[in-house]
Amino acid sequence: MRKNIVFFSGAGMSAESGINTFRDSGGLWEQYSIEEIATPQAWKLNPTLVTEFYNQRRKQIIETNPNAAHKLIAELQNTFTVHVITQNIDDLHERAGSRDVLHLHGNIRFAKSSGPNPESKYYPISGWKLTESDLCSEGFRLRPHVVWFGESVPNFDQAIELIEKADYFVVIGTSLQVYPAANLVHFCKSESQKYIIDPHVDSFQIPSDFIRIPANAISGVKELNNLLMNSL
Ligand SMILES: NC(=O)c1ccc[n+]([C@@H]2O[C@H](COP(=O)([O-])OP(=O)(O)OC[C@H]3O[C@@H](n4cnc5c(N)ncnc54)[C@H](O)[C@@H]3O)[C@@H](O)[C@H]2O)c1
Repeated sequence: MRKNIVFFSGAGMSAESGINTFRDSGGLWEQYSIEEIATPQAWKLNPTLVTEFYNQRRKQIIETNPNAAHKLIAELQNTFTVHVITQNIDDLHERAGSRDVLHLHGNIRFAKSSGPNPESKYYPISGWKLTESDLCSEGFRLRPHVVWFGESVPNFDQAIELIEKADYFVVIGTSLQVYPAANLVHFCKSESQKYIIDPHVDSFQIPSDFIRIPANAISGVKELNNLLMNSL
């Protein structure tokens, strides 16, 4: 039977595609405050600013490409059952060919209602621009399909279910500072093999049974690939 790998990725996964992380030097947090653009209060106060911020992020994401690490993860589907859980709002895992991607914090290529039932339907955005006149079927203004700070994470329980069944669990490019997502590292079974790939992993506080690969996503996933193939 095929072994089951679950990847759990964060902003560092897409850094080598040219998309800024939030916390690294030069990251987005230095240019914008969270309150201004990534909270429900921000949307209430200035939906146009929030829409424009995410329009610019969407434009950048559309113009960039999956990197070799996204592609290698997709290639692993030839040998393993692969599930990807991502905190990223970009669609680079899908564009690299990963067939099973669960977005914890939404997908910027989609919009949802700003009315009382935001999770009832996701609307694909053609191109990069969401505008004031884009409305959901109930007549409310569409907002980006992104989970903001202070909002619940609708796919969290589904992520736990996947992680609990993993033979291999691989964490890549996340500072594990955003909750509840960061708690996911505690849900895999004790006998699963656990890896964490991040250039700063040596300073992370994570369970001791994680094998640390202190590397960028591309070189780290190549190293992981060799370890996995040798373990078969
Ligand atoms: N691409 C995106 O969609 C994107 C980009 C920025 C932020 N976000 C969102 O911001 C939140 C921030 O949390 P986070 O933990 O994902 O990001 P983070 O910015 O807090 O942490 C990024 C991590 O990536 C590591 N990193 C930097 N360069 C790397 C590389 N080349 N290869 C591998 N790792 C590298 C850093 O050491 C750091 O630990 C997430 O919820 C995510 O939704 C998404």
